[in-house]
Amino acid sequence: MEQKYTKKDFDVLLNKIVALEELLKEYEQTTIEQSNLLIQKNKDLENSQTLMLQSAKMSAVGQLAGGVAHEINNPMGVILGFAQIMAKTIKEQDPYFLPVTSIEREAHRCKKLVADLLTFSRTGKTTMEKTNINAVIEGALTLSETLARIKNVDIIRSLENNLPEISANSNQLQQVIINLCNNAIDAMPEGGEIRISAKKSGAYVEIEVTDTGKGIPDKIKQHIFEPFFTTKEVGKGTGLGLSLVYEIVQKHNGTIEVESEPGKGTTFKIKLPIDR
Ligand SMILES: Nc1ncnc2c1ncn2[C@@H]1O[C@H](COP(=O)(O)OP(=O)(O)OP(=O)(O)O)[C@@H](O)[C@H]1O
Ligand SMILES: [Mg+2]
Repeated sequence: MEQKYTKKDFDVLLNKIVALEELLKEYEQTTIEQSNLLIQKNKDLENSQTLMLQSAKMSAVGQLAGGVAHEINNPMGVILGFAQIMAKTIKEQDPYFLPVTSIEREAHRCKKLVADLLTFSRTGKTTMEKTNINAVIEGALTLSETLARIKNVDIIRSLENNLPEISANSNQLQQVIINLCNNAIDAMPEGGEIRISAKKSGAYVEIEVTDTGKGIPDKIKQHIFEPFFTTKEVGKGTGLGLSLVYEIVQKHNGTIEVESEPGKGTTFKIKLPIDR
């Protein structure tokens, strides 16, 4: 028997097809959203793996530092102390002048390295006090400005008035600023500009250090906070600067981010929580 289809039948069919098409589109959209979510989750996972690796390395260095640095600290103090006394009494024309002043200089370097390593040692308790961030920055800049001037680098400050005081260790935070400035200066061998700012942003005090230097390529960026990672030649950098910065910021319950455009410059942004 022949079946007759009316126009109405076709319309119903057409409507069904349109509805199906829409359903299909919706499914497609959901699939795209789901896979984007998956990609994001994967990225998050990768990030937290990197962070875990980072802190595992940190604690390995921390343990090593705790033991070795303490042992080296005292003999180094003796060497430096005697070298300083000798350097003061010896005349410039004396044949031992150069060796003695060299011993003094290098002993200073070792002491600094040991002090850096000791900061990693988590056993060393950090004492926190109500701290004025602008004063910390000014203190650090007094030290960094001499080097900056020699290297043709201008330091421009933009420090917000009446920043709330935060609970912090001012010595350690000064070291953070100095290390960031040193790196910035190193990144601008032909001279340039460092902009340093401090402002209140929500529940945080935000410090930014920006340079107009050579920038950090993406491949390198992922390693810069690792202890002993350096791109500088032997004898110039130990690769402890930024890992120390990272460690200190962590101890202050803060965060640090870096943005960089090779050839243009780099910005380090630190956020430190304001106590409530
Ligand atoms: N402002 C910057 N511009 C360009 N590269 C930078 C900057 N800051 C850091 N880097 C890169 O990150 C690396 C690690 O920096 P970090 O301060 O930890 O060690 P370092 O400066 O090499 O040595 P150290 O600080 O121990 O003397 C540097 O070698 C450099 O490649
Ligand atoms: Mg450095």
